[in-house]
Amino acid sequence: MTNKPEKNNNVVWHRATVNRQRRQKLNGHPSVNLWFTGLSGSGKSTLAHAVEERLHQMGCRTFVFDGDNVRHGLCGDLSFSREDRSENIRRIGEMIGLFLEAGVISLSAFISPLREDRQRVRQIIGPENFIEIHCHCPLEVCEGRDVKGLYKKARQGKIKNYTGISAPYEEPLNPDLKVNTSEQSLDECVELILALLAEKGMSCS
Ligand code: ADX
Repeated sequence: MTNKPEKNNNVVWHRATVNRQRRQKLNGHPSVNLWFTGLSGSGKSTLAHAVEERLHQMGCRTFVFDGDNVRHGLCGDLSFSREDRSENIRRIGEMIGLFLEAGVISLSAFISPLREDRQRVRQIIGPENFIEIHCHCPLEVCEGRDVKGLYKKARQGKIKNYTGISAPYEEPLNPDLKVNTSEQSLDECVELILALLAEKGMSCS
């Protein structure tokens, strides 16, 4: 958000006197984004909410963005085509940028299957604000869980472009953290993420 152009089609960016720095000071912690990526059923949302719970208990201001929720509202007009997925992720990136300005720690749980799209978010919000967490879980395990019954429908051909079945998932090449949700417990994964935040100097006062 630091390189925000001053003008765009006669719309002038309004500079608030209460800025990110002042909001962060008031909150007692820096704002950042934790970006959870992985297959449907890999545990992204569960993990994001569990980390949020711990951060909240520590007195941090937090918010979880979740694919299944955001796609009912802000991105309710988008399909799962390659183009629409990119637009979905772009909008979330812009939204997260605003939450960073608001001084909030955001946790976003989106499949975000394409490296290019995740890279774009990194650029929109600034690489220093983007912490990428790969929720790794073998497809067979995600499919076995099939909490929403969507893998079954995808196998039957009732859902097109289903990630892992009929649409690609590109694993992060260099995530800040990779957790294996089929082998590590939820608590273990939460602790790893909190340790990573502490390592980056992200503690709540
Ligand atoms: S993303 O690919 O654009 O990042 P997003 O995280 O917003 O996906 O939404 C994923 C959720 O939408 C899945 O957890 C699943 O419940 C549902 N869904 C419906 N259709 C599809 C599909 N074709 N591929 C993947 N997920 C789908």
